[in-house]
Amino acid sequence: MMYEEVIVCECLKISLKEILKIVEQGIASIEEIQSYTKAGTICKMCVSKKYDIYGERAVHLEELIK
Ligand code: FES
Repeated sequence: MMYEEVIVCECLKISLKEILKIVEQGIASIEEIQSYTKAGTICKMCVSKKYDIYGERAVHLEELIK
């Protein structure tokens, strides 16, 4: 599997590729990622390790912003 095919947000099936695309376009905060993609707006486990207490998500939005 290509790393870009990794699903970041399992609730809404949003891939790493989709998130990286908007980060490259200048999206600079978790709030903006959420408003553009809705990623991280359901269970929040993909937002940060703080919400992902059992380490169920490989990547979190907080690690993808610059
Ligand atoms: S995995 Fe992203 S909101 Fe649940």
